[in-house]
Amino acid sequence: MSLLNTPFDPAHEAALVTGAGNGIGRAIAQALVGEGVRTVFADVNRETVTAAVQASPRPELAVPWVCDLADPGACDALLAEAQSAVGQVTHFVHSASPPRREADHALAVSRETWEQMRAVNVDAGFHLARELARKLIAAQQPGSFLFLTSLHAGTPRNLPHYSTSKAALAMLVKELARTFGRFGIRVNALVPGAIAAGGFVADPALARHIPLGRLGRSEDLAPMALAVLSNRVSAYVTGAAIVVDGGLSLTNWFDPPALDDL
Ligand SMILES: NC(=O)c1ccc[n+]([C@@H]2O[C@H](COP(=O)([O-])OP(=O)(O)OC[C@H]3O[C@@H](n4cnc5c(N)ncnc54)[C@H](O)[C@@H]3O)[C@@H](O)[C@H]2O)c1
Repeated sequence: MSLLNTPFDPAHEAALVTGAGNGIGRAIAQALVGEGVRTVFADVNRETVTAAVQASPRPELAVPWVCDLADPGACDALLAEAQSAVGQVTHFVHSASPPRREADHALAVSRETWEQMRAVNVDAGFHLARELARKLIAAQQPGSFLFLTSLHAGTPRNLPHYSTSKAALAMLVKELARTFGRFGIRVNALVPGAIAAGGFVADPALARHIPLGRLGRSEDLAPMALAVLSNRVSAYVTGAAIVVDGGLSLTNWFDPPALDDL
């Protein structure tokens, strides 16, 4: 049997993807559905999440759920709904993140914007992962969780609410991986580079700094997300930060060699 033929076990596995209405979350949720995995698409935007479900390879396996993840009560309702809609959630992807606005630098960002970013990225990510883990532990089932972090977990972005929330998520991945490992629940981070996905309005000139010569697309993230999420492909991977950036993070103050004579 081919190793990569059946990465998932749809009879016993189901997924919940936050931020599934747009960009990277949407691409991952649709890819999971394409693998036959029943998946809850959670997002604050009713229109986009409905469209994402309809455009799925198998819409009958996709369940839309509209909620504001900044509201802890909405997270509880999502947990209850996910279980009744798709059964025990074994695979969790946290991709939701409020919009990034370049104007929100350290002297400008409002308290409300700061708290919204933390509430969606960190608080909801922690709360959802912990409650899903409790259910899996009680049922003695393995699981796989994936958090979308960022290169800006480690380097400034001029958006302190965003970079600090991603740094917090990067540590949360390590904490949860260590605590949940003994129960067969793996927790990893997916670290995108510059992905022209909706949440990031990319200047095409940025491609000059990317060794693979182009900005990323959401579809560049989905195959790696599936590989890390799969308990068959990545059974021994936990606490890892998987960078998918076309080499962007290799850029520094030295330009690559000119190689004019080749
Ligand atoms: N695009 C990039 O270049 C890039 C780079 C590094 C990290 N990331 C991370 O990857 C993830 C996806 O990025 P993207 O560019 O696809 O983002 P995006 O803005 O296109 O999608 C984010 C989704 O989250 C949803 N969302 C926002 N607030 C919400 C809330 N309160 N409750 C529920 N849903 C909410 C939005 O409606 C949207 O559909 C994010 O966590 C982002 O930080 C993206």
